Amino acid sequence: MATLSLKAVALVALFSVLVTYGARAQQPDYNTSATSYYSDWVPAKATWYGAPNGAGPDDNGGACGFKHTNQYPFSSMTSCGNEPIFKDGKGCGSCYQIRCLKNNHPACSGEAKTVMITDMNYYPVAKYHFDLSGTAFGSMALPGLNDKLRHAGIIDMEFRRVPCNFPGLTINFHVEHGSNPMYLAVLVEYENKDGDVVQVDLMEGNSGYWEPMRESWGSIWRMDSNRPLKGPFSLRITNESGKTLVANNVIPADWKPNTDYRSFIQFN
Ligand SMILES: *[C@@H]1O[C@H](CO)[C@@H](O)[C@H](O)[C@H]1NC(C)=O
Ligand SMILES: *[C@@H]1O[C@H](CO)[C@@H](O)[C@H](O)[C@H]1NC(C)=O
Repeated sequence: MATLSLKAVALVALFSVLVTYGARAQQPDYNTSATSYYSDWVPAKATWYGAPNGAGPDDNGGACGFKHTNQYPFSSMTSCGNEPIFKDGKGCGSCYQIRCLKNNHPACSGEAKTVMITDMNYYPVAKYHFDLSGTAFGSMALPGLNDKLRHAGIIDMEFRRVPCNFPGLTINFHVEHGSNPMYLAVLVEYENKDGDVVQVDLMEGNSGYWEPMRESWGSIWRMDSNRPLKGPFSLRITNESGKTLVANNVIPADWKPNTDYRSFIQFN
């Protein structure tokens, strides 16, 4: 899958447009109990891509827009999800336990490991398909048998959704490359629990007025404006339970593209 994924990264923008419209038009009926916290273990297929001890894509990114997925808190324990898991990008940043058992492959340890969804799976081979980083795939093996398990290439395994937990981390806002006063794109990352937000709103200066941002792709939210936006910006995020948190003036007036702005907020 390595070469496919490389092309896929280049085509992310196009694909996400197609996927967004395709999926919304059909309103697919996903079995949500398979992706609710601590359900029974659900059968799936696992493959892996990228370097054997890597984080998936060669650039340590993926279709969610996360960067440095080889570093904490991703720590290379990452995965592509197919549509019931990636959910048009809503699944980005969500956490899953994965495990494989002796009857799946003799090198399997049966121990649960936690991965985060950071990429999209373009060519699913099963109803639920985790295309894992080499590191995550190997982590399901008995000690010393990581390579042996990776050699299998594709295995049956099991998964269940778990809340994310990022000890010591607050929510980060990364102003994306290409942002300018008329177009602000912000990657939202490290949300505990759900790992994702359902809405982001922006307030310019102390205008007192919240404007909704639009989900661009993956975990990136954008604001297009017909006049220059004036910082500092406050951001308000809403999670799936409707809980909102406000990061006051988290992006300063002299903000720069391709920069992290760390908040003091976190879901608990
Ligand atoms: C949904 O998934 C759960 C867990 O795998 C399963 O027990 C249940 O039968 C499924 N329901 C439907 C309607 O497919
Ligand atoms: C939303 O945030 C609240 C408060 O931090 C938390 O209790 C809840 O579990 C979160 N919901 C989801 C779906 O993550």
